[in-house]
Amino acid sequence: MKTFILSTFFLLAGWSSAYGEDGSQLWLRFNSINTTVSVTGVKGTAMTELQTYWQGGPVVLKRQKGLAKDGYTIKSQSGKIVIAAASDAGLLYGAYHLLRLQQTGQSCDQLDISEQPAYDLRILNHWDNPNGTCERGFAGKSIFLNPNPERMKMYARANASVGINGTVLNNVNAKPEALSTASLEKAKAIADQLRPYGIRVYLSINFASPIKVGGLETADPLDAKVISWWKEKVNEIYKLIPDFGGFLVKANSEGEPGPQDFGRTHADGANMLAGVLKPHKGIVMWRAFVYAPQSPDRANQAYLEFMPLDGQFADNVIIQIKNGPVDFQPREPYSPLFTAMQKTQMMVEFQLTQEYLGAANHLVYLAPMWQEFFSFVKPGSLRAMAGVANIGDDTNWCGHHFAQANWYAFGRAAWNPALKPEEIADEWLRQTFSSDERMLGPVKQLMLDSREAAVSYMMPLGIHHIFAGGHHYGPEPWYSPKGLRADWTPPYYHRADSIGMGFDRTLTGSANVKQYPEALCRLYNDINTCPENLLTWFHHVPWDHKMKSGRTFWDELCHKYDDGVHEARHFLTIWDAMQSYVDQQRFSEVQRKLRIQARDSEWWRDACLLYFQTFSHRPIPQDVEHPVHNLDEMMKFRIPISMYENPENGYNK
Ligand code: GCU
Repeated sequence: MKTFILSTFFLLAGWSSAYGEDGSQLWLRFNSINTTVSVTGVKGTAMTELQTYWQGGPVVLKRQKGLAKDGYTIKSQSGKIVIAAASDAGLLYGAYHLLRLQQTGQSCDQLDISEQPAYDLRILNHWDNPNGTCERGFAGKSIFLNPNPERMKMYARANASVGINGTVLNNVNAKPEALSTASLEKAKAIADQLRPYGIRVYLSINFASPIKVGGLETADPLDAKVISWWKEKVNEIYKLIPDFGGFLVKANSEGEPGPQDFGRTHADGANMLAGVLKPHKGIVMWRAFVYAPQSPDRANQAYLEFMPLDGQFADNVIIQIKNGPVDFQPREPYSPLFTAMQKTQMMVEFQLTQEYLGAANHLVYLAPMWQEFFSFVKPGSLRAMAGVANIGDDTNWCGHHFAQANWYAFGRAAWNPALKPEEIADEWLRQTFSSDERMLGPVKQLMLDSREAAVSYMMPLGIHHIFAGGHHYGPEPWYSPKGLRADWTPPYYHRADSIGMGFDRTLTGSANVKQYPEALCRLYNDINTCPENLLTWFHHVPWDHKMKSGRTFWDELCHKYDDGVHEARHFLTIWDAMQSYVDQQRFSEVQRKLRIQARDSEWWRDACLLYFQTFSHRPIPQDVEHPVHNLDEMMKFRIPISMYENPENGYNK
């Protein structure tokens, strides 16, 4: 009764969204369930979804040969809407397209739509461990620990609604037990739940599994016993999961075992697994995230290891490369492997979980970052797209309501990388919050500005990897414990000294610029033509270097950090004005996070400027807000782990 009176009140007050929402419905917040609508034709999940949620006129689902895999058409024909596709998955994507039109308030009268995805593999990578923790996860425990059927269904629907069709269930730092019979049975149960939504499961494997699970003496990929162990294991998997997708492999990276341990190459390792998976139509996604403690420039390493192997990988191997050459930093240039390798199938790995972008506390919409990547790397040169998931068992799935937008955007971008970040944000906001223009305009702008703002208050002008040791949440540009390998400490990256700061990657430095195509190499190599947003990535920049603004580099740095802080505060101001357009629960939860973000931005600015000032010996310009903290205070500050992640994760690097 009380609920009725309340909701009637809000409806009358034109404030129908004011009842509590917890984010558990993601962008699939369908108003009511309509069972009277006529949906005929091919039976399956597409039909069920439409029968449950579609509120328009009659729909016919039909099979049509000749359409691209996963593609579909939606046409208005004689008073009906006809969705045609070559497969069940295509029909499902068509159904979700129609529902999206409904939810975003578009006309469905004269439809003539034809869609097909840019990539046929659109895959989430969960970094979930068997004990339920998620590496770099900020939204609770693994959803796969004790899979709850309702949540699994929601997970599957959410993925399918944006075209995601694959999921790697476990961490790339794979425990050997991922291949134990008990884990495989668990994977089978998940695969069975996801299959009706067109989603295949994949597993990360530990390269030393033949030793650790199989009890063999070696995991040498050319050893006959090792090959036959993998064959049997793969047969066991396919008996349980006939449409199993394949393996994701992190090998010879950050201490994980790999073929190099046995004197073999990445190609030897990948091709052996590919050979075993091939009869089952499985694939190998072999990661290129490699670096070595002795390397004079970490950014050079992947190219050095993989370029000599270009053309040597089997046709069911895809090299999975992080978007940048170092590690999911707020801004990196693209990884030069993407334009260098010509004879190898490649896929990009983006990170949705905000390991280096404020975890689940900061609002950072990532589609603009991916658009930047695709302005350098032709979408057509890639075979697939992977996204490191930001999903956990938190009620709202992603920890921050706006982090859901990154999951959504990943699916949409993997379907069509040409979609503009603003179009995706618009769709997502309309479905997740409301179509009220008074909310849509300002909040969309906030989302679009959020990535650049984070770059400004964390690491402007090409600065990278100056995070605190271990947690990667706050700043610790001074972090350099004795004995720790240099490339795990910020001074390795920022190289601040009395002359300036930045990593000299020019031809006379680490020569990293040489890994880029000629024109870019020239552009990046010259301090006067290098884009300023990558300046200290490629150059050791003198403190008095003249910037385009006319300021010195030091002054510009101070301004950038300060601009970032002002933007973060401005986000809060924008959101505060949204109270009447957003339900109370999500309004307050987002507000609380934006306050943390604004405070963190001050912390970043003060810590970094005060620390770099110990090298620059220059004053902070008068028109820049001066630090409210002092360096000693900042250096002593220890952030409570519960602020940003599940304390059980316990990282040490
Ligand atoms: C980063 C991250 C690790 C992760 C690794 C990877 O280094 O901090 O937690 O395992 O990337 O992508 O393999």
